[in-house]
Amino acid sequence: MTLATFDPLDPAFHAGRLGDPHECYARLRAESPVEWNEAASMWTVAKHEDVMAISRDPATFCSGRGVLPTDRARSVAGTDSILFLDPPEHQRHRRLVTPAFTPKRVAGTEPVIRRLTRQLLDALPACEPVEFVDAVAAPLPLLVIAEMLGIPGDDRDRFRIWSDSLIAAATDPDDGDALVAAAELWEYFQAVIEDRRAKPGDDLVSVLVTAEVANEDGGEPLSAAELLGFCMSLLVAGNETTRNLFSGGMLALAEHPDQCALLVADPSLVPTAVEEMLRWVTPVLAFARTATRAVELRGQHIAEGDYVLMLYASANRDKEVFGATGGAFDVTRDPNPHVAFGFGEHFCLGASLARLEARVFFEELLARFASVRLAGDPQRLDSVLMHGLVELPLVLAPE
Ligand code: HEM
Repeated sequence: MTLATFDPLDPAFHAGRLGDPHECYARLRAESPVEWNEAASMWTVAKHEDVMAISRDPATFCSGRGVLPTDRARSVAGTDSILFLDPPEHQRHRRLVTPAFTPKRVAGTEPVIRRLTRQLLDALPACEPVEFVDAVAAPLPLLVIAEMLGIPGDDRDRFRIWSDSLIAAATDPDDGDALVAAAELWEYFQAVIEDRRAKPGDDLVSVLVTAEVANEDGGEPLSAAELLGFCMSLLVAGNETTRNLFSGGMLALAEHPDQCALLVADPSLVPTAVEEMLRWVTPVLAFARTATRAVELRGQHIAEGDYVLMLYASANRDKEVFGATGGAFDVTRDPNPHVAFGFGEHFCLGASLARLEARVFFEELLARFASVRLAGDPQRLDSVLMHGLVELPLVLAPE
């Protein structure tokens, strides 16, 4: 495809049906790194340096007028979210929810993550085709979040349906079924929050409720709506992203058997491999900002109110940062300053949890299976927000 026909809001482009998106990104970086995209009515920003500059300047590039590629609203499925806040409210909100993600709390979840991972992997047959998304990639992040939120086992199937619907609502705000599911989830979380207020435990909702109380002296507690919105945001932000890191990472291993062999021979490489999978897959393709004033970027005049889309997937292949090998999948790459978790003000709050989940998952998987092969064609998710797979048929073998 030519640059003239590039449309970041066309799912066919991201699914690779119009050619390799990375060829288009490379041309954008070289020829038109900051470009007004007529089809989508927004600026696209393709270079790593510019994505970082925008992300670290919320006064000029705000989140309050939308962050999703398709939707310039302030909410996901009718729910306020931390994603759409700007300073100073954003800092206040973030301070109150950060206790739920301290390094100590996240590290403390490793035994639970390992147990859940082992349960799923123990059920996988060796040497015969498995549909990896359904069997492992989708359930694992959901089980981890449900466990962290203290959601009882019986409710977890409903939880998965709700979570999928929220993502559907994020990409298609007119999806009526998804909005009904969001309302059901809202009610469910309301009951959970009431329950933890009455009987605080050790789960994440209890920590958030306690943070709310602990901050009452300071006069700015999390409101009940903020607390609910945050719980909903966790499902939207944490599930599908991590799922697509697992499935995309497995596809990368299947397509690069030499890299898989390196990892099997030296499992201490798993942490750098996880960073490379984050860069290679870039589960969140792009997020947006709105210019709060007229501003110039690489000689282009961005007007106040213009929507600006940061192409993370392009930034993560920028040769100025990743060198001539930026187009290669290399599990030993270090340093690896990818922007898969964003950067600056809204840097992913769940990054250390996602990294831990991925490390544990790949450690456990490669200890069981040294060979990862494709057993059919992977099916891409139709989305302009998420880089995902809906089906990944694999054959896993001990050697
Ligand atoms: C591979 C997995 C993940 C990826 C690729 C990812 C990606 C991102 C990105 C790109 C942002 C920045 C948004 C922006 O700048 O507007 C973000 C923010 C966020 N992420 Fe993640 N995420 C992942 C996993 C998780 C998990 C597991 C959780 C929690 C359970 C989580 C919770 C959040 C939250 C709450 C924010 C908003 C932070 C803020 O607005 O201050 N994420 N994530």
